[in-house]
Amino acid sequence: MRISVFGAGYVGLVTAACFAEVGHHVVCCDKDTSKIALLRAGKVPFFEPGLSELVANGVRSARLEFTADAASAVSGARVAVLAVGTPPLADGSTDLRQIHGVADEIRGHVRQTLTVLVKSTVPVGTNESLTKVFAGTPVNVISNPEFLREGSAVADGLKPDRIIVGARTDADRDLIRELYEPFARNHEKLMFMTPESAELVKYGANSMLATRISFMNELAEYATRIGADIEDVRRGMGADPRIGSSYLYPGIGFGGSCFPKDLRSLEFQMGQHDVDPKIITSVIARNERQIEVVVDAILGAITSQPKPVVVLWGVAFKPNTDDIREAPALKVAQLLLDRGVEVRAADPIVSQAQIDEVIGKGRLSLVESEMKAAEGADVLVLVTEWRQYRSPDFDELRTLMRGSTLIDGRNQWSRRQVTAAGFTYVGIGRS
Ligand SMILES: NC(=O)c1ccc[n+]([C@@H]2O[C@H](COP(=O)([O-])OP(=O)(O)OC[C@H]3O[C@@H](n4cnc5c(N)ncnc54)[C@H](O)[C@@H]3O)[C@@H](O)[C@H]2O)c1
Repeated sequence: MRISVFGAGYVGLVTAACFAEVGHHVVCCDKDTSKIALLRAGKVPFFEPGLSELVANGVRSARLEFTADAASAVSGARVAVLAVGTPPLADGSTDLRQIHGVADEIRGHVRQTLTVLVKSTVPVGTNESLTKVFAGTPVNVISNPEFLREGSAVADGLKPDRIIVGARTDADRDLIRELYEPFARNHEKLMFMTPESAELVKYGANSMLATRISFMNELAEYATRIGADIEDVRRGMGADPRIGSSYLYPGIGFGGSCFPKDLRSLEFQMGQHDVDPKIITSVIARNERQIEVVVDAILGAITSQPKPVVVLWGVAFKPNTDDIREAPALKVAQLLLDRGVEVRAADPIVSQAQIDEVIGKGRLSLVESEMKAAEGADVLVLVTEWRQYRSPDFDELRTLMRGSTLIDGRNQWSRRQVTAAGFTYVGIGRS
């Protein structure tokens, strides 16, 4: 099948490469000409494990092409996938300008029967409003929210656990079966429903996962007060099959380009329909509080130091990605910098230019090795649990640092090992 994918970001590029991998012919279109130039030169513009190889396969097989020209992407396509950004506006609502921008381009160029597949996360009702935009054209709209996770996006894209489809007609459902048939050979993954339900599945899923995290963070704060260890509590709770162990990890809170914006969007959407989003609001508030929990612990450890230095291990919002959108590390850094604290950071993938773009040049310096970054620091905070940070040489760290506080923001380290090296250990919810 001939497919065009609009947006060559984390979702669009992975989707395009996965469709090409299973035999479809894909034209991936992004209006960012520098991104397209990089892709045409064989370079993937961001870090995602396994993606360069998959893109190279697609290009080699001539089933994956790149363009910045919407007209040529639309021409001859049977399906157009929308994978453009849907960032938040100041009031929490969703900025749909990129979606409408692509819709206008498709409307202007389409000459054939075309199905638009909306993979971007969009508020409930967007399918209906896009259907109105395409009225009088041979275009129909299907909702197909995406669930891939950055860091394992290629595996998720090639082996989705479910494919949620909001479609109105049998013809639409048949087309989707044909498109996804190579991904669903082993067992049925397609779940058909109304577009409104499909749109809400995405917000429901992200909000549920975020709720588990905030719930554990709240429980962790209580555990600290009463002398319990949240890690033992987490294991005990997760062993109940009705609860399960995923997304039960307390820490510095969730970040990234999806959870924070999707929760705020759902909160806004519910408010518009006179539903009081009590749980969602609390989940967001708890997540913001979690940054303060860590900053308070840091400030408590540097009170006697006239020129304190704090080092953060990890800047990406989670391991195996270079994405720093809504990264907790930058929120912690910002609060410390505002108080005049010197902050350094280390990260295996994130670049200084990315950091400067978010918090300004010359404010947070990135040091190439995590051990070098720790030299002379008063407090070290583990913010992102990159694999290489999981078991450092604590004795060496103790000789490098000026101070003796390690804050384990992801509960990765053994208190026994850390204290044996002469450090004070501070975990999340570990009294
Ligand atoms: N990143 C994730 O993990 C993830 C997971 C599931 C769903 N989503 C959703 O998928 C959508 C895309 O997310 P992302 O992280 O890939 O975003 P992104 O910012 O990485 O990529 C969006 C791309 O769209 C391009 N674009 C904007 N307008 C365009 C136009 N008119 N024509 C062609 N290209 C255009 C931008 O230049 C950019 O490259 C969002 O709605 C997001 O909520 C993201």
